[in-house]
Amino acid sequence: MESLTISEWLLTELKQGRFPPRMPSHRRVYEAIRRAIATQHLTPGARLPSTRSLAEELSLSRNTLLAAFEQLHEEGYVVSRIGSGTRVAATLPESFVPMRASGATTDAEPPMNTSGRNTSGLSKRGAIVAGPSDQPSYEVQPFTPGEDDFSAFPTQIWRRLLNRQWRDPQPAFLDYGHAGGHLPLRHAIANYLRMSRTVNLTVEQVLITSGTQQSIDLCARMLTDYGDRVWVENPCYWGARRVLEVNGLSLHPVPVDDEGMAPGNTDFRNPPRLIYTTPSHQYPKGVAMSYGRRRLLLDYAASRGAWILEDDYDSEFRFEGRPLSSLQGMDQSGCVLYMGTFSKVMYPGIKLGYIVVPPELAERFKRGLYELQRPGQVVIQAALADFIEEGHFSTHIRRLRQIYKERRYLLQKALAPVTNVGARLPPAGSGLHLVVELPAACDDVRVAELAAEQGLRVYPLSHYSVGEKREKGLIIGYAYASTDRITTYGRILADVIQAALSN
Ligand SMILES: Cc1ncc(COP(=O)(O)O)c(C=O)c1O
Repeated sequence: MESLTISEWLLTELKQGRFPPRMPSHRRVYEAIRRAIATQHLTPGARLPSTRSLAEELSLSRNTLLAAFEQLHEEGYVVSRIGSGTRVAATLPESFVPMRASGATTDAEPPMNTSGRNTSGLSKRGAIVAGPSDQPSYEVQPFTPGEDDFSAFPTQIWRRLLNRQWRDPQPAFLDYGHAGGHLPLRHAIANYLRMSRTVNLTVEQVLITSGTQQSIDLCARMLTDYGDRVWVENPCYWGARRVLEVNGLSLHPVPVDDEGMAPGNTDFRNPPRLIYTTPSHQYPKGVAMSYGRRRLLLDYAASRGAWILEDDYDSEFRFEGRPLSSLQGMDQSGCVLYMGTFSKVMYPGIKLGYIVVPPELAERFKRGLYELQRPGQVVIQAALADFIEEGHFSTHIRRLRQIYKERRYLLQKALAPVTNVGARLPPAGSGLHLVVELPAACDDVRVAELAAEQGLRVYPLSHYSVGEKREKGLIIGYAYASTDRITTYGRILADVIQAALSN
């Protein structure tokens, strides 16, 4: 498209008014340009007109255009170079590709043809993984849960540390890495967990994986057989649920109350092989498991020979009170496998996490890790070890904690009015998301759709249910929403919720 036609096209898009009524002008321009890129009206490398000329042609202020361009630039849709103006980026951000969200139940098996093979050609497990989701495809938006604020990441330091490793890499750094991970990183993690998370361990117990998803998969393969029972929290983190289902395990939902996972007599009657739990900050409801529940779970698991998978995915972001100790740190019988991730503190694409396994499992898990996953990434592991040892990790955590604490406070304030119409906003002292609990009769999927119409992506809590009981609510991530806009977004969302509950 030539300059003139770009502005004509934008003018038509803006006039057609397919935007939510309260969407600000800069956001409309941003969306319109993104649409032009999506529909290939603007192809990679295409030059955009200057903000000055577009402002004139669209009869908008230059600041509006600057804000739209800034966002496109920050998110990687366009690149700007002095002398050659602003162009559509050659490589578009991954989030641009419509992604699948989950939380979905896909219990339906695919139909079979006469050969006994299902018509999709997939295995049963393949059909679970690729099955229809009851959630629409999404793009990253301010309240999308699970998204981090990458703008605060110390890119220069990270680049320097990576470059240092690449300057003269040892041959072993380019191999798969078969020793359970790079030893200095395992030492750094062991020190960090001992100090910050009261985990009881020696370095031999630490294995580096490609993240929690892979840690759970490894545990499922090494510790269970097809059909074994596994307790999961209800509602449950969909990523864990998927991996457990695909491993052919029988998922047994255990309710969650204000003290965390709450097994009752009917649960106790059928002991599981595995118990998957998020005790520090239940995902998605956000409660911390009480001391009594921790003791109960540990004693029960020890007496029945069950393994507990403790997913400690975001405890770096505790904003109030003293840090909670880990379940693993209270365990006397060696039944807890503790899992952590660098997805939240660093960035998800780093694909690094860790498991701390009981001493007697360490060697066998190391072999299993190598046989099943060939983890690799040793250069990145070495850079990460330096990042932790040189203090950048703790500085970065402190910085993020400040940023996210403020965002959480602003969002809670903006959402407060929803409590006047029957919604509940439980206190949340940690993590990267809030939950607004809605009355049982409320259709939370519909409320999430109404929010999406205002450009705000939130997830319905009911999609995280396992089994019959479906709690209603909205899961709202606040890490990705910028501090200066979060109050505005929060108020729009509060209006949506209030309107939905008042009808
Ligand atoms: C409960 C829970 N565990 C773990 C993770 C991170 O997993 P991974 O290390 O596979 O990125 C997430 C990410 O959103 C999560 O919500």
